[in-house]
Amino acid sequence: MHLRELRLRDLRNIATLDVALERGISIFIGANGAGKTSILEGAYLLSHAESFRASRAEVLIRRGAGGLSVYAEVERRIGPVRLGLARRDSRWEAAVNGAPAANLGALLREFALVCFEPGSHSLISGSSLLRRRFLDWSVFHVEPDYWLQARRYQRALRQRNAWLRQPGADSELEAWDAELALTGTMMAAARERHFANFAEELQGVLAGLLPELGEPRASLHRGWPEAQDLAGALRRAHGRDRQRGHTTLGPHRADWNISFALAPGRDELSRGQEKLCALACVLAQARWYAREQGEWPVVVLDDFASELDIAHQTAVARLLAEGPDQILVSGIEVPESLRAAGPLRVFHVEHGMARCLV
Ligand SMILES: Nc1ncnc2c1ncn2[C@@H]1O[C@H](COP(=O)(O)OP(=O)(O)OP(=O)(O)O)[C@@H](O)[C@H]1O
Ligand SMILES: [Mg+2]
Repeated sequence: MHLRELRLRDLRNIATLDVALERGISIFIGANGAGKTSILEGAYLLSHAESFRASRAEVLIRRGAGGLSVYAEVERRIGPVRLGLARRDSRWEAAVNGAPAANLGALLREFALVCFEPGSHSLISGSSLLRRRFLDWSVFHVEPDYWLQARRYQRALRQRNAWLRQPGADSELEAWDAELALTGTMMAAARERHFANFAEELQGVLAGLLPELGEPRASLHRGWPEAQDLAGALRRAHGRDRQRGHTTLGPHRADWNISFALAPGRDELSRGQEKLCALACVLAQARWYAREQGEWPVVVLDDFASELDIAHQTAVARLLAEGPDQILVSGIEVPESLRAAGPLRVFHVEHGMARCLV
């Protein structure tokens, strides 16, 4: 799939920006602070309804403006779609083909974009929350019920945690245990099904990108002991959970990691290797999506060339040449390494405006 038109209003330093996009590689170049990342962030919002670099949506709104909006026309294998997303009064409003969407999930389902950016190394070295989100984005796209199960699970988790902090009988806790066990077991099974396929793609990408680290191994921990069912594990944890005041096991504690034959510990990776490993995860996610859905997601590479040597950039370009319809890149200048991956369109970005150079 690819974006044909992207329109941004009041996003960071961008007041109004309309950009026509095509298949292939588009590169946004310009000085620091020009607005390159903000353009990519705008496209990302349509596939995640959150930023990859800001935890609060309000900071995305241009200073002095009352809200922001993003609009895009997307070409897909199953037909074109028009998407709109606006942030006003601390709420998201989504529209698909001009009609209000029932919920954010209905918008996010329509468009897929994967993103590698300067903070992506925290997918390897940061908190498990980032890895769960990464995994759940993929599961959401192939398992129609997943969004619903995950919301039910989160609601039950909040209730159970509230009961854990009050003195009282275990019967209320048991009611929430049952709901958590039901939804949590489904979530974990969906994650496991997906992770096996993701790990297979990851192996292929890493062989091309980081062969110097030896055989990779990816493993998923579902959030409670392998030998136990979730209902039993929750029941047995009542005492400990009461003591700590929260639910200490379940899919909200799941995690996954990658280790290499020649670098078994996470802290043995250099900063560049961490970045490459995260980039491999993003490309594997894109490959997995293409295999499942029959078309590639849009691939975004923010500040692609920074901290990566030419040999590794070239290896990435080789992997990219095989696949995505559209790749959106940003950088101070055009990375030489990408010239091999196909014809390039270059946009110059200045003060939140973009002008097509070639
Ligand atoms: N809410 C906001 N309102 C107005 N301006 C903002 C807001 N948030 C950020 N900015 C400004 O928007 C500009 C765009 O930043 P952006 O990160 O997109 O730049 P960039 O071109 O990617 O730069 P770099 O090369 O340093 O990565 C910056 O000058 C920043 O100070
Ligand atoms: Mg930037």
